Amino acid sequence: MNKSAQLVVTLDGPAGSGKSTTAKEVARRLGFRHLDSGGLYRALTLALLEEGIPLTLWADLTDEDMNGLPVRVSSEDAEFLIEVAGRRVQAELRSPSVTAHVAFLASLPAARRRLLRLQHIAGEKGGLVADGRDMGSVVFPDADVKVYLVADLHERARRRLEESGISPSNVEVERESKVIAERDRQDSERELSPLREPSNAHLIDTTRLNFNEQVEEVVALVKASYTD
Ligand code: CDP
Repeated sequence: MNKSAQLVVTLDGPAGSGKSTTAKEVARRLGFRHLDSGGLYRALTLALLEEGIPLTLWADLTDEDMNGLPVRVSSEDAEFLIEVAGRRVQAELRSPSVTAHVAFLASLPAARRRLLRLQHIAGEKGGLVADGRDMGSVVFPDADVKVYLVADLHERARRRLEESGISPSNVEVERESKVIAERDRQDSERELSPLREPSNAHLIDTTRLNFNEQVEEVVALVKASYTD
């Protein structure tokens, strides 16, 4: 196998910067697999909500408790499939209640320990595009190509709302901006694996890029890394 097929590419950035959709398409174009680490944090959150464990007890959960939650990841050709309580989940992971609680769950050491192991197993063989908050800084610090995606807050809010099929008014964009800014604050201020631009990452501001342009920029960086 040639070396380029074993590369690890990381995309980190704040909420709504386009990491997941970009990572998925970059992986498809390169023939790599896509790891949506945020999906794992969301799955653990969904499992806790479904088990009916009160929020006030989450911080006391042990490693054993976290390991006992019914979250599984299996790998198919291009994707990692996430299961909660034996069923494949996708849209549910983005429900408002999961979104409202995921940043708190992600601040808990036992939750991060549970998911770190899963992420390392997923990345073992390379050929991976991983997106999240700490992919290039903590989970895959030796990644071959690291990207940090940013975009203007209002633009991120507008994209988020459009993703769910609405043409948002200014008031809705303003409201969504507040929700996103609060999650960014929680993700950046937490003690463990806070959202940071990894020191040797390529910074891409997607505010004025369309989807295809941002995918092409990342693909070009990956290709340059093995033709240099
Ligand atoms: O897609 P969006 O940017 O809204 O979020 P996501 O990637 O689905 O991640 C959801 C949440 O999981 C984030 O707000 C973080 O709190 C947490 N997360 C994390 O702590 N570390 C990661 N590597 C990925 C996500």
